[in-house]
Amino acid sequence: MLSVVASTAQVSPRPPLFDFQGVSMIHHFTDNWENVQNFQARPDDILIATYPKAGTTWVSYILELLYFGQTDPERQTSLSIYQRVPFLESDFKILPFGTELADKLTTSPRLIKTHLPVQLVPKSFWEQNCRVVYVARNAKDNVVSYFHFDRMNLGEPEPGDWNHFLRRFMDGKMGFGPWYDHVTNWWEKKQTNSKIHYMFYEDMIEDLGREMDTLCSFLGLSPSSEEKAKVMEETQFDKMKNNKTTNYSGIPVMDFKISPFMRKGKVGDWKNHFTVAQSEQFDQDYQAKMKSKTLKFRTLV
Ligand code: A3P
Repeated sequence: MLSVVASTAQVSPRPPLFDFQGVSMIHHFTDNWENVQNFQARPDDILIATYPKAGTTWVSYILELLYFGQTDPERQTSLSIYQRVPFLESDFKILPFGTELADKLTTSPRLIKTHLPVQLVPKSFWEQNCRVVYVARNAKDNVVSYFHFDRMNLGEPEPGDWNHFLRRFMDGKMGFGPWYDHVTNWWEKKQTNSKIHYMFYEDMIEDLGREMDTLCSFLGLSPSSEEKAKVMEETQFDKMKNNKTTNYSGIPVMDFKISPFMRKGKVGDWKNHFTVAQSEQFDQDYQAKMKSKTLKFRTLV
């Protein structure tokens, strides 16, 4: 496996958020902006787009195995998921820039990850009519997962305590901007772009086989039932948690003693974090923000 090339000190721990084109961001994701903006997508590229902590790694690994599990098994053990599926806007100084990694990929299709809100996606993806797989996760579990991620990832802004973090989430002061805008603006884009497949984390938990069938039909793939079963087995939470290529172990800025990257992988963990009062306040605020939107989550609670 390629070694990770930088240390904690090189990523300037606990960076602040700042306003970037109207979206709160961390400099790791904007320092390489010229190259991100001018990134040359190829027509067969597949962009995996998510709000952070919505199940990006899960769907990335599913796609990776669907495309290359049979043809290139060596790749599955020799490269980490973040090398196989470059993180487009990343300039974390741990690996080469996401754009550089993507440029070097010789696979077809290239699988490329982004957390960018839809309005910041480089225009070549639209010009090339690339397919996009977007995954959304219910807001309450998403904020819980983001909280634990920021606790363990020194390259993220200081999370503060849970109360503080939840307030920030509701105020949209998160890396990659407000969850509310991210999920709804991508949803709106999908209404006029048939190349966007919009999935929900909760649906994947409920019935991964069904969700994989819809995904494969969108991608024009028809894996055999054995191939499908193999992908489903390899992408189970526990398997991915114990798999060095998918569990993000070895990244210097991530302290697994605080919280692992593959943390719980469940729906409803928010109930272990929100007080009753917080939940009521969150729901009220949520209804106000989402009531005019056509996107409906079936599992806010
Ligand atoms: P939790 O923190 O709730 O456990 P991302 O990849 O976008 O950073 O998302 C990470 C979240 O997806 C974490 O959620 C992680 O545990 C969960 N996840 C990753 N792989 C999964 C899998 N195979 N099944 C279920 N959840 C998974």
